[in-house]
Amino acid sequence: MFSLNAYRPWHLLSAALLLSPTLSAPSAYPLSSASMERMGDCIDYQIPVTTRTEAQVWGLPKFSSNFDVSAFILSLIRRTTVPPTIPFNPFKGTRNVTGNYTIGATFCSPKNASKGGHEKTVLLATHGLGYDRRYWIPTFNTSEYSFAEYAVSKGYSVFMYDRVGTGKSSRVSGYTESQSSNHLAILASLTKSVRSGQYTGNLGQPSKVVHVGHSFGSILTHTLVEQDPTLSDGIILTGTGYNETAFPSFFEGARLNIANTVSPGKYRGLDSGYLAFADIYGNVATFFNPADFDPEALWYTQHIAQPLAAIELLPAASGNPGATNFTGPVMILTGEIDLGNCAGNCNGLLEHPAREIFRKAEPFKTAVHPRAGHGINFNPNATGAFGVMTDFLAESGL
Ligand SMILES: *[C@@H]1O[C@H](CO)[C@@H](O)[C@H](O)[C@H]1NC(C)=O
Ligand SMILES: *[C@@H]1O[C@H](CO)[C@@H](O)[C@H](O)[C@H]1NC(C)=O
Ligand SMILES: *[C@@H]1O[C@H](CO)[C@@H](O)[C@H](O)[C@H]1NC(C)=O
Ligand SMILES: *[C@@H]1O[C@H](CO)[C@@H](O)[C@H](O)[C@H]1NC(C)=O
Ligand SMILES: *[C@@H]1O[C@H](CO)[C@@H](O)[C@H](O)[C@H]1NC(C)=O
Ligand SMILES: *[C@@H]1O[C@H](CO)[C@@H](O)[C@H](O)[C@H]1NC(C)=O
Ligand SMILES: *[C@@H]1O[C@H](CO)[C@@H](O)[C@H](O)[C@H]1NC(C)=O
Repeated sequence: MFSLNAYRPWHLLSAALLLSPTLSAPSAYPLSSASMERMGDCIDYQIPVTTRTEAQVWGLPKFSSNFDVSAFILSLIRRTTVPPTIPFNPFKGTRNVTGNYTIGATFCSPKNASKGGHEKTVLLATHGLGYDRRYWIPTFNTSEYSFAEYAVSKGYSVFMYDRVGTGKSSRVSGYTESQSSNHLAILASLTKSVRSGQYTGNLGQPSKVVHVGHSFGSILTHTLVEQDPTLSDGIILTGTGYNETAFPSFFEGARLNIANTVSPGKYRGLDSGYLAFADIYGNVATFFNPADFDPEALWYTQHIAQPLAAIELLPAASGNPGATNFTGPVMILTGEIDLGNCAGNCNGLLEHPAREIFRKAEPFKTAVHPRAGHGINFNPNATGAFGVMTDFLAESGL
């Protein structure tokens, strides 16, 4: 099982590079903070979820060294517009599988004094690769970086969970159950539970469920409303883009190695299909604006970073999810210098073809968040981004 004690304290790591040595260890679960406790009530859950999916079956040898990972990444990003034009496919077929998991989650809702009529709107947040639910509810400098704390201060309720294979959710193989179809089935299952008023503390049944995603979590959220537009009352996709992407640089820049070779013992129960930044520079290149970041935020994210499964990179590499008949409010908010989604410059790139993909969405709004890299919640002026998001919800009647 996952243990916070297994983490190497990040202040020691940062001291080693003469960055700020002042941080203290993060507080244990439950995920709350003194300032959150003044405004809201948070409950942590361990939620049983059963999925039935048609899963892709891994067809290559498992990675036995980081040379194999390099070869995999090259296969993933290699040009196929000239012969051989066959897209890379590491799978050998599909099979129907059942999975039983425990999903770690946190629900926070405003206390009476912070209520303002929005509390029955639950923001159901799915984090991206490299993180767990602490992307939304960090325990570090929360007034600057906690999306959950900001949303609760504006009167919204928030439900956040660890995607399977991360945080306090079940450990699975990086070659099998960590794939998109399973993540999607878990998201759909959690959505139905939350809609029915399970795992919402004393709030009871929500009146609205809005899905919020970051990066891979945005791809899953998009696919959720593509497959069943009735499951959501509104979506906010962050750290995503549909126009000029640069995933090859993004995947190489992350400097991914087999997680257990980077930090032996830190990631118990993860097989060689799980990859982590070889060093903190991969984290900076992927998630931050290298010219404008808070070193303490960087070191915190390095400390809480979660390995990603190699097969989770495939959806991003294989292009956009499809058009959807979703009719609710849609916002797309991405950092101005996001490398993967906009090749480092999102200005002018978010509106199209996103507007055509979400052709029936109303209202539809895009926002380029100034100065931020891909990991918006830990980048400069994160609360500015949170404000744009909650303002959009309020304007949209959510
Ligand atoms: C999985 O189940 C579906 C629906 O029952 C079926 O159509 C499909 O052929 C099955 N796939 C495999 C690989 O068995
Ligand atoms: C999953 O849980 C269900 C219900 O508890 C049980 O019937 C099923 O056998 C379990 N499946 C697996 C693969 O463990
Ligand atoms: C919140 O308000 C409800 C209804 O107005 C009341 O029943 C409840 O006791 C209040 N809770 C707190 C913690 O003040
Ligand atoms: C939180 O982060 C902001 C922005 O980097 C910084 O100005 C502030 O001093 C930090 N606060 C704490 C308590 O670390
Ligand atoms: C959207 O609705 C149209 C008309 O009902 C239908 O033909 C189309 O298949 C739908 N598209 C999706 C992605 O569900
Ligand atoms: C991508 O963005 C550019 C610049 O705004 C625009 O001209 C182009 O039409 C967009 N591409 C698509 C496919 O919408
Ligand atoms: C922070 O972001 C908000 C929303 O985009 C913007 O209005 C504000 O000017 C930004 N503040 C700074 C200091 O960049």
